[in-house]
Parts: sequence; C-alpha cells; structure tokens
Amino acid sequence: MSTKIGTIRSVKGTRDLLPPETSLWQRVEAEARAIFSAYNFREIRTPIIEQTPLFARSVGEDTDIVTKEMFTFSDRDNESITLRPEATASVVRAYIEHSLYNEGGIQKLYYVGPMFRRERPQKGRYRQFYQIGAEVLGSDQPTIDAEVLEMLMLLLSRLKLGNTALLLNSVGCPLCRPEYLKALRQTLDRVKRNLCSDCQRRAVTNPLRVLDCKVEADQPIIATLPSILDHLGPECRQHFDRVTAELNDRGISYTITPRLVRGLDYYTKTTFEITSGALGAQNAVLGGGRYDGLSELLGGPPTPGIGFSIGEDRLLLAVEAAAAFKAEEKLAVYVAWLGDTALAPASKLARDLRRQGLSVEIGYEPVKLKRSLGVASKLGAQFTVIIGEGEIANGKYQVKNMGTGEQQAVEPERLFQHVSESVPQ
Ligand code: HAM
Repeated sequence: MSTKIGTIRSVKGTRDLLPPETSLWQRVEAEARAIFSAYNFREIRTPIIEQTPLFARSVGEDTDIVTKEMFTFSDRDNESITLRPEATASVVRAYIEHSLYNEGGIQKLYYVGPMFRRERPQKGRYRQFYQIGAEVLGSDQPTIDAEVLEMLMLLLSRLKLGNTALLLNSVGCPLCRPEYLKALRQTLDRVKRNLCSDCQRRAVTNPLRVLDCKVEADQPIIATLPSILDHLGPECRQHFDRVTAELNDRGISYTITPRLVRGLDYYTKTTFEITSGALGAQNAVLGGGRYDGLSELLGGPPTPGIGFSIGEDRLLLAVEAAAAFKAEEKLAVYVAWLGDTALAPASKLARDLRRQGLSVEIGYEPVKLKRSLGVASKLGAQFTVIIGEGEIANGKYQVKNMGTGEQQAVEPERLFQHVSESVPQ
C-alpha cells in the first residue's frame, strides 16, 4: 500500500531566509548592535510566548493587533498564550518582573527577534516578521526622545538608506486627551456614517483609532478631523516643543504629522514613524513613541518609557533598494589536495587558517585539480591553495589568486599573511 505524500511547505505569511541574503541580515544586525552599544543600550531577550492578557492590556483591546491579528492558543492547562505581536509590552513586563527599577537610573534595552501578526501577507508584510527595537525606561526628559531619534537616524545613514522621512507627532497624555476625545467624538458623530464599519465602531469604543484607519475611502474624511496638537495640555505642549527644538539643534529634519497616532494604545506624548520611499504600500520602516503610563498599567511602578521597533524585513528591502551593500559571503581560501598523502597537510593548513579567522573550504574527497579549481571558483574563493606530492616535497604550496589567475609558491607558515594581505577581513 502506498500513500502519496504531499510536500509540506512553510506556513502562509512565513518565509525562509536563505544565504547569501542572510549575510545582509547579519550585517544590518551588526550595525544596529554596534550603534546601540555606542549609545549604551544593552540587549534583552524575552520569550516569544507570553500570557495573552499582557498584549490585550497594553496594546489595547480595540486595536487591530488584538482583535484580529494575534496568534493565540489555549495551552494544555487552559492558559491563554499568545505569540508576541510586538516586544515593548514584554520588555516592560520583564522590567517589572525583575524589578529593574531597583538598579537606579534609566534602563536602555534593545532586542532583535521575530514577532507574529496574522495579517494579510504581501510584500513587506508577513505573519512572522523581525524587529530590531530599543526601549528606554525611567526618564520623561525630551532629551531622551531626541537622542533615541538621533540614534535611529545614525543607523539609517550607516545603512545608506536615502529617501526616508521622519514623521513626528504628540498624542498627549491622560490629562489632555479627554478634552481632545470630546472634540473628536463630536465631529465623528456628524461624519461617521460615511466611514467604514470598523471606524463606525471605533468612533464609539476608541475614537483615536479612527485616525489610524488604513481604508483609502476614509482618508479625505479623516483629514478633516480635529488635530490632537491643537488640544495638548501645557505639559505635553512644552514637552513636544522641547523635542522639536532638540531635533533642530541636532540637525535632524522631521515632518509634524498630527494624525500619526500609531496602531497601539499605550502611547503618550511623542509618537513617530520613519517611512522609506523605496517601499511600496507598506512604507513604514519603523515606528515608536513614548508610553509613560504602560508600567503602571501592567502593575509596575510609575515609569516613563520611550522606544521604537524597526521592521527588519522592510529595512532589508530598503537596504537592498539602496544597493549600497551586497549580499555576499567571502570565501578566502579553497584548499585543493591531490592524492591521499596530501590530505593530512591540507587538513592541517585548513585548520590553521581557520583558527586565524579566515573563511576556508576544503575538498572532502579526492578529485582532479581541474575539478577542484572549478569547485573553488563556483564557491567564489579568492585563493586556491594546491597541495600535491611535489608541493609537500618542496615545502611550498601553490597559491592561485582566483581573480588574477596568478600562481605563486608559498611556504605554509607564510600563507596566512600572503592571503590576508589581499582579503578584506
Ligand atoms: P509597530 O508600528 O506595530 O510598533 O511595528 C513597528 C514596525 O514593525 C512597523 O513600522 C513595520 O516596519 C514592522 N511591522 C509591523 N507589522 C509587520 C508585518 N506584519 N510584517 C512586516 N513588518 C511589520 C511596534 O511594534 C512597537 N512595539 C514600537 C515601539 C517600541 N513603540 C515603543 N517602543
């Protein structure tokens, strides 16, 4: 009896990242880690699964993320578990759980890892996607907001990303927001029947979310709704003015975008997004802002916070479009050995060069020289070292520069120096 086995494919909205593209991901992550470290951020790793109420409470019961997009399941003991749709809530949970506030001062933390949202997949939008994010906990100073944005702009410029725009707004705080929501509700009462059904519901349950609606037909109406910037209380106004003044001082350009409220409920005061012209419809490379009330909302001490998350998949699309970096892996040396007696010295040479940090590949079975050279050039090796009986007898190996075709006899001890002079490390 034979049953035909269907091929199993990756789950919808998820994808495999393959070499050589993964080398570009590593490059981007290395740049981010270096810059985070220069700004004294340290890495935090939180679990990929969390208790569902963490996100319901922090991201917000009425957001698209919580109502439609979470991968939530009931565990064997009936606990409701969710694959994290974002990491800010997890970072704040960990901050509270480990009493990081007892360490005094501010905590600057960063993370890199997968997030999960059950969205309709398209270019730049996946169900498993990656974020590179950073959070600062413990200060409400506008200088932090400006510094976080400065750090971001530095990262984007290191990655040679052109054609980006920093969109900036303030969404106020629990003191000034009620007055704004009143004005918003009043206007919405008049116009909501012309909005999409989601917005008609949001107009009642969470009117701020209407501003974040992505439905094209709703946009002309949304553009006429009152602006939160006209309703900021004195403290939020002053905070926003200081953030913009500090950005000016640092030479960072931005566009004030009063309808930028973001898709998560925890924000207070500063919110921002950076868009890239290199991306299509999904043009937000990153988003972030302040969340001064989140720690208290999750049962922790009052702790102001601000952070951002870069969508790494989108960042990579923009980096690829900018074409300043190429996905490539550099194999420095291919070791070709001819005849059984050459295997031992060849293996030793490969080991020694690898110990010194060069990227080395070696043939694993005896083949003719021509075939070895073919393999070496297919692998993109910069040099091929040829070791046969003659070379062993002479105490010098043949080293072929695969770019120029030049060949030279070099002593094994001098080989590392010979190769590393022309291989970028
Ligand atoms: P967010 O705006 O929901 O914010 O996501 C940040 C970025 O993640 C987006 O700008 C986008 O680049 C990327 N992203 C979101 N969903 C997807 C998807 N389905 N596929 C690919 N990329 C996606 C947050 O997550 C907040 N935690 C940001 C933050 C940190 N606020 C304060 N601290």
